[in-house]
Amino acid sequence: MSEFIYLDNGATSYPKPQEVYTYMDSFYRRLGVNPGRSGYDICMEAGEVVEDTRQALTEFFNGTDPNRLCFSYNSTDALNLIIFGMLKKGDHAISTTIEHNSVLRPLYHLWKYNGVEVDHIPFNSQGFVDPDDFKAKFKSNTKLVIVNHASNVIGTIQPVGEIGKLCQENGIPIAVDASQSLGKIPMDMDALNLDVIAFTGHKSLLGPTGIGGLYVREGLEIRHTRAGGTGVRSAVQTHLDEYPFRLEYGTPNTLGIAGLKAGLEWIKAKGLDALFRHEMELTTMLRDGLQKIQGVTLYCQDDLTDHISVLLFNVDGMEALNTGTLLDVDYNIACRTGLHCAPRVHDHLGTTQLHGAVRFGIGPFNTEAHIRTAIDAVSEIAEMQSKRG
Ligand SMILES: Cc1ncc(COP(=O)(O)O)c(C=O)c1O
Repeated sequence: MSEFIYLDNGATSYPKPQEVYTYMDSFYRRLGVNPGRSGYDICMEAGEVVEDTRQALTEFFNGTDPNRLCFSYNSTDALNLIIFGMLKKGDHAISTTIEHNSVLRPLYHLWKYNGVEVDHIPFNSQGFVDPDDFKAKFKSNTKLVIVNHASNVIGTIQPVGEIGKLCQENGIPIAVDASQSLGKIPMDMDALNLDVIAFTGHKSLLGPTGIGGLYVREGLEIRHTRAGGTGVRSAVQTHLDEYPFRLEYGTPNTLGIAGLKAGLEWIKAKGLDALFRHEMELTTMLRDGLQKIQGVTLYCQDDLTDHISVLLFNVDGMEALNTGTLLDVDYNIACRTGLHCAPRVHDHLGTTQLHGAVRFGIGPFNTEAHIRTAIDAVSEIAEMQSKRG
């Protein structure tokens, strides 16, 4: 059997750096206690790992107060805390058609059951939203703008800085779904005029599954929509208002936080720019190769500026799922097919009726040889399909 080639890094990064596995193993054996809940040594030490990670992540996107970084299970969890905690009956929210279901569905829920109005800004033929379209939708009851930073389907990076500036000028909070971007491209909350960001640990940050978080700018408060243990001031009957407890509930995923810490350290040691350059060189090579194949359609990939290492395509006349199965079974290549939890992107591209499209997601451990094999595999599949007519 040929070498296994993992091109599904948009779903989750795999493998993780060796340092992540090693650190998680040693952390959990040595410090796998409930952090910050008691005063004994390893409890304090485990608590320090949690707080160090809070601090390191906050610095990573230029936040100002590590206490305003709250850990969650993943970005879906963080986005739910944001959307349900910032919107109420009679409010208006603006989002986009490029969003993942972790934004679309909570907004839909609020629209259907809680009387929240929602506008979705469409993206253009190249996969970008226009900041002015947001401005045109601002109303006196607009209480949240929530935008995907980098698309998990077509890879485009949205102009969140410009949207953030317009929001700031109009006193409207903006939250950004940084699930794909944080850990891949530099992010400076302040320079981008962002109020809230949501992230997940297992994708570009190279940590494990089950850990994510959100950061809330000073001066903005998100209502708590849950309540429970925080490990401090247990006699208080209500959930605590101060951050990070305000948006953290129950025992944290310390093992996940430890893995996230190691992932972040690995990224910093290798250099975010160098890693991104490597991934985009491979993405360009893959795009160029796929573009030359007759019978392959690429979506929103003409210009790879403002783009992450995600490519979407279909073999003409073939359902995405079948292409994915052939890549898996005949070539040992892992990709992701279907709607990628972002159905409105496929509605817009006209790929819903093909049951979606095929996504290749390139990660730090992919090589030129992987890309050559993937191009050859798609070429053979397209040729076979054209012979079948
Ligand atoms: C853009 C985007 N947002 C949100 C999510 C949800 O991430 P998680 O499943 O880690 O909650 C994903 C994951 O696919 C994503 O790509």
